[in-house]
Amino acid sequence: MKMNLKFICNNNLVETEVQPGKSLLDFIRRDLRLTGSKEGCREGDCGACTVLVGDLENDRMIYKTVNSCIMPVGDINGKHLVTIEGLSYEKLNQIQNDFVEQGASQCGFCTPGFIVSLCGYFLENEKPNINDAINSLDGNVCRCTGYESIRNAINNSIVNLGSNEHHGKSHTEKLVSSNFIPNYFLEIPQRLNNLSLEIQTDSGNGEAKQIIGGGTDLLVQRWEEIEDADVNLIFHSQLENKITLENNICKIKATVTVTEFCESEIIKKYFPGVTESLYLFGSLPIRNRATLGGNIINASPIADMTSILLALNAKLVIKSKSIKTIKLSEFYTGYKTMNLSPGELLAEIKIDLPKKGALFNFEKISRRTYLDIASVNSSIYLEMNENAISNVHISAGGVAPIPLYLFKTEEFLIGKEISFDVIKKAAEIALEEITPISDARGSAEYKSLLLRNLLFAHFEKFFPNLIVVEELI
Ligand SMILES: Cc1cc2nc3c(=O)[nH]c(=O)nc-3n(C[C@H](O)[C@H](O)[C@H](O)COP(=O)(O)OP(=O)(O)OC[C@H]3O[C@@H](n4cnc5c(N)ncnc54)[C@H](O)[C@@H]3O)c2cc1C
Ligand code: FES
Ligand code: FES
Repeated sequence: MKMNLKFICNNNLVETEVQPGKSLLDFIRRDLRLTGSKEGCREGDCGACTVLVGDLENDRMIYKTVNSCIMPVGDINGKHLVTIEGLSYEKLNQIQNDFVEQGASQCGFCTPGFIVSLCGYFLENEKPNINDAINSLDGNVCRCTGYESIRNAINNSIVNLGSNEHHGKSHTEKLVSSNFIPNYFLEIPQRLNNLSLEIQTDSGNGEAKQIIGGGTDLLVQRWEEIEDADVNLIFHSQLENKITLENNICKIKATVTVTEFCESEIIKKYFPGVTESLYLFGSLPIRNRATLGGNIINASPIADMTSILLALNAKLVIKSKSIKTIKLSEFYTGYKTMNLSPGELLAEIKIDLPKKGALFNFEKISRRTYLDIASVNSSIYLEMNENAISNVHISAGGVAPIPLYLFKTEEFLIGKEISFDVIKKAAEIALEEITPISDARGSAEYKSLLLRNLLFAHFEKFFPNLIVVEELI
């Protein structure tokens, strides 16, 4: 079913009818005829298609980088879409000039993606620095220039921005007067506000059985089918009330993205350490769209958020005509099968607040450090009473057809004091609970070894004076 779409693309209002599940990149290149955004991998891996999606939050524009190849076009309704064409008009902008001066673009295929990501970084960061700017490019790959000249160009942009006189200007005015973005950006908040009064931004067809969260799995795996399907778009970019606290229970809407989870003050305060390693989840544009609900329902045995939520002993609130609550550890029934009927919606994830002094750790081994899914991952939540373990939950990913909760290992560990022998025995029990298979991510033996070492790594991190991994191996 087609939907009416109204949004601002660069400096222009766009009004049209579309199939909402179509890839935003196809719409940009084929319908809008803006061909600066490139199609490289079409899988969210290369960043050549990166665009900015801007939304008003509390009267302030928030811009996020996304991979347009795997974003459904329906989700752009009521937003400000910025493509490379919208970042400079008569002349190159300062970031582009710096790329030219430093020879940071050779064939140029990746360059629009880099420039868009950097503009997004400068829009969102009033005090830019080179390390954070480079981290914001974790989803952009260049195959021919070499990263040193790109790094030098970014350095120059930071220096150029800092050297201009900006007394009394807003951050956006400062970027405009420094030629980082065009003038029209100043009017976007007002224009978007007017637009929001005209349209209904909830573009989901609640009746449709095909639910799409961020689309970062679906538009990779089944984009041709999704393009014409009747879809229920549930992605919401407003964080308000998405993560709340009630009676010592943290309630997280399933549409919360990995970025929102990491940035939430509630998560930072009550779950310290949980988000520490989530920079290893995909890339920034992927984290900006990947929802927690999508991670759970996609049911990949190596899903990172699911690993973390298993160790936090999360419960799922599922809605159809009635509401049911089920423990995540009891949700999966086999490879990609679960206690969920077609059209049923995962609405919320509930986690008990950790006890005071509780420990948490997440470990992930992948073939590449960045932008790679795990070969094996594992998370642990641990409560101690004096020297003995009073509560523990451990997950193991990549070693079974489902994201696994280690029930027997938990049973063994409860009440035990931490020692070399106990941890070794726990690892032996864990290896009896798993059923790894050999595939492109490693042999079954290798994955068993990885899990054993990750379990040791958890305890070494918590008890460095008692447990030394080298001595356990
Ligand atoms: C380049 C790249 C890198 C990635 N890296 C990682 C990584 O490091 N770690 C990792 O774990 N994953 C990774 N992923 C996978 C993906 O980003 C995650 O699984 C993500 O959390 C999926 O969420 P989504 O909202 O995009 O799901 P979608 O693609 O929208 O949906 C996935 C499935 O869930 C269903 N669904 C979504 N939300 C709901 C809901 N609320 N109720 C019922 N059904 C629902 C959909 O119908 C679909 O079947 C990566 C993907 C890409 C493309
Ligand atoms: S085309 Fe490679 S990330 Fe979109
Ligand atoms: S300039 Fe050729 S891929 Fe980056």
